[in-house]
Amino acid sequence: MSLFDKCAETVRRFDYVKAHNQYFYFREFEPTAAPFVNLAGKRLMMLGANNYLGLSNHPKVIAAAQAAIAKYGTGAGSSRVLTGTSPLHVQLEKKLAEFKGTEDAVLFSSGFMAMMGTVATMVDDGDVVLSDSLNHASIVDGCRLSRAEKRIYRHDDMASLEEELVKCAAFANRLVVTDGVFSMKGTVANLPEIRRLADKYDAAVMIDDAHGAGALGKTGRGTAEHFGLEGKIELTCGTFSKALGSYGGFCATTHDACTFLKFTSRAAVFTASPPPSVAATVLACLEVMDEEPELMDRVRRNSQFMKDGLKQAGFRLEDTITPIIPILIGGDARTFKMAGGLQDEGVVVNPVVPPAVPKEGSLIRVSLMATFTLEQLDQALGKFKKVGRALGVV
Ligand SMILES: Cc1ncc(COP(=O)(O)O)c(C=O)c1O
Repeated sequence: MSLFDKCAETVRRFDYVKAHNQYFYFREFEPTAAPFVNLAGKRLMMLGANNYLGLSNHPKVIAAAQAAIAKYGTGAGSSRVLTGTSPLHVQLEKKLAEFKGTEDAVLFSSGFMAMMGTVATMVDDGDVVLSDSLNHASIVDGCRLSRAEKRIYRHDDMASLEEELVKCAAFANRLVVTDGVFSMKGTVANLPEIRRLADKYDAAVMIDDAHGAGALGKTGRGTAEHFGLEGKIELTCGTFSKALGSYGGFCATTHDACTFLKFTSRAAVFTASPPPSVAATVLACLEVMDEEPELMDRVRRNSQFMKDGLKQAGFRLEDTITPIIPILIGGDARTFKMAGGLQDEGVVVNPVVPPAVPKEGSLIRVSLMATFTLEQLDQALGKFKKVGRALGVV
């Protein structure tokens, strides 16, 4: 196969799915009054975004971003380590450390780079990293890049983790890595048991809490807060691309580990700094979370309302306590048809098929925002029922 044959093959595959109304990628959404969007002139309800608290549209957040652009311009112009650091970046690192209950935090230019760069840099030759089989691609790539040995334990299977840990005594250091919230299924890692096993076998713990912030814990601080383990996780990485209204990522940990990552993580050093307006945006999001705790209550209320309604209608759901609702449809073709039917009815969702989920695990991924009213969600439920019945899903 020549270098470009595989590209042509990919195009042929997508031509096929487009012709069969199974293509739901790179849709060009225009903004309208949030939480609605426009697609090809049609107003749709957005039940597929990770903007859980609606903060990317919050007036205070938008004003903070605009003020930072007016003051600093649109780009940072360099890597953090050289001339790309502004007072806003430093202020945000302090605020994130406070948010996660750690000594310090270090910014990365995306969530993907935060996860990948942290794993790849923290463990090295002679160490071992133990990773949940369903961890996000950014962790998988971090494991690939690291010189450490890799062990994959069965998803959310603590016996499997312990089996692996028992065999790892000879390594210099052990690092257990897990998503806090698994992004496709919305389920939560068993962090208390992971912490207990890590202590028993002298391992450190890293969580990718991309979907935990804003969604879990009384004050939205994430998975560790949910389990009362704040400050007890050695490395907590996160993203600004979900509840924190922007784009970029971070790792919250000890002051020494932050300094180490800042100078030795290639994903942090050899890339441009996030624009100062990103730092201003995230600072404003964190302030709004403190000032408007009702946003966390509303996203939970909305998620519960939708889960109850879907269950009552006969849909099969994986049990979750997050704003991510995975609806098990059965079969890739029917999953695409469900997404297509909902889009025709004015509701945007994400069809998720292998390899993003295990074989036979195709699902419709619904994600909730605090900004919906119950009346709007009730209307959406009506559409789910209509399309689900037509396809024989319920
Ligand atoms: C669990 C998880 N980790 C990491 C990432 C990467 O974050 P980002 O989109 O900010 O690069 C995502 C989102 O795509 C995610 O869902």
